[in-house]
Amino acid sequence: MSTEPQIVRTQVGIVGGGPAGLMLSHLLSRAGIENIVIEKRDHETIYKTHRAGILEAGSVRMLTETGIDGRVLTHGHRHDGIDLRFKGVSHRLDFQDLVGESVWLYPQNEVFFDLAAARARDGGDVRYSVTESEVLDLETAVPKIRFTDATGQRFEVHADFIAGTDGSQGICKRAIPAQERSDHFIAYPFAWFGILTEAPPSAPELIYAHSEHGFALISQRSGNVQRMYFQCDPAEDASTWSDERIWAELQRRVDGPDGFTLKRGPIFEKMVLPFRSYVCEPLRFGNLFLAGDAGHTVPPTGAKGLNLALADVKVLFEALESFYGTGSSELVDGYSDTALERVWKAQNFSYWMTTMLHSREDQSTFERQRILGELEGVVNSRYGQQYLAEAYTGWPHR
Ligand code: PHB
Repeated sequence: MSTEPQIVRTQVGIVGGGPAGLMLSHLLSRAGIENIVIEKRDHETIYKTHRAGILEAGSVRMLTETGIDGRVLTHGHRHDGIDLRFKGVSHRLDFQDLVGESVWLYPQNEVFFDLAAARARDGGDVRYSVTESEVLDLETAVPKIRFTDATGQRFEVHADFIAGTDGSQGICKRAIPAQERSDHFIAYPFAWFGILTEAPPSAPELIYAHSEHGFALISQRSGNVQRMYFQCDPAEDASTWSDERIWAELQRRVDGPDGFTLKRGPIFEKMVLPFRSYVCEPLRFGNLFLAGDAGHTVPPTGAKGLNLALADVKVLFEALESFYGTGSSELVDGYSDTALERVWKAQNFSYWMTTMLHSREDQSTFERQRILGELEGVVNSRYGQQYLAEAYTGWPHR
């Protein structure tokens, strides 16, 4: 095998083949813009990575209106509201009544599956299982990606633009010199313990529960598989928890005078999810553009991660389409500011939901009571409910 890299010329090189990278590739190809996606994981590994499961209406439209399979409509579930539960009492927020929108329960791994299938169907160039990838010459007119493919062949992609959609641990953000970016970051003193269980649904919609024992989220996957989470210590070792202990912990966070009882079943997946809020600013260095988790991460409480990634991709796609269509770089130059406007709104919403619903061990009685006041303020006011409903279902795409 030759040691010289094979040079491949394209218009947009995309680093990262998760939902953001594949969606960008799909949109670019539809517009006749050449692109190549490289991804270090294999299809199976990405498909088996469990992430959040709520799609904003705008995200659903991106899937259904651009010729990706409509499985989200047949296999996903439309949810017209959520329950906020505290002091053992549930308060339903009716999104349709409040803001005329819904969200869809459709897990991120299914979004990935559909996008990967659409790329394969349409002859998209997606290279999985690549190694030794690096991005270089980012400040020149020909930014490059080097990688070794699954057969061991070295490649060098010469592009006009590089999109970094390689997640929070990816190579793209790290390729931006520290003095060229601001890292805005906060850590939280808790994480989520997530489970998948073979059980019937405990509730028809999601329940976000605040209790003196901490937060719990009751979510669903299907008629016989459910997803639930509870607030835990970031250093928790999920493997040491028995099913019995997990059920007891979840139940005591939703206990109340209404006698609400979780429907139990065997737990077949346990994991601890890290929690942080992060934004890289700007989302651009030379001809490298960051989108999705590569540029920002939110805690999962507001279910914004994937939705934000897709919103970034829409802005980036429209900028690139405009560049190739008109020769004007105005939208490309505006990408970072435009995308960050939504990112910061979502950062605020995710931070707000997180601090309002979780509890801290060292919390004062003042803080504990203040949070209850905040929750009452939301559920007892139509304006409060509308604020949450508008953010949760997603601000309109620009
Ligand atoms: C999920 O179903 O995995 C899920 C739903 C809503 C969230 C986070 C995770 O806020």
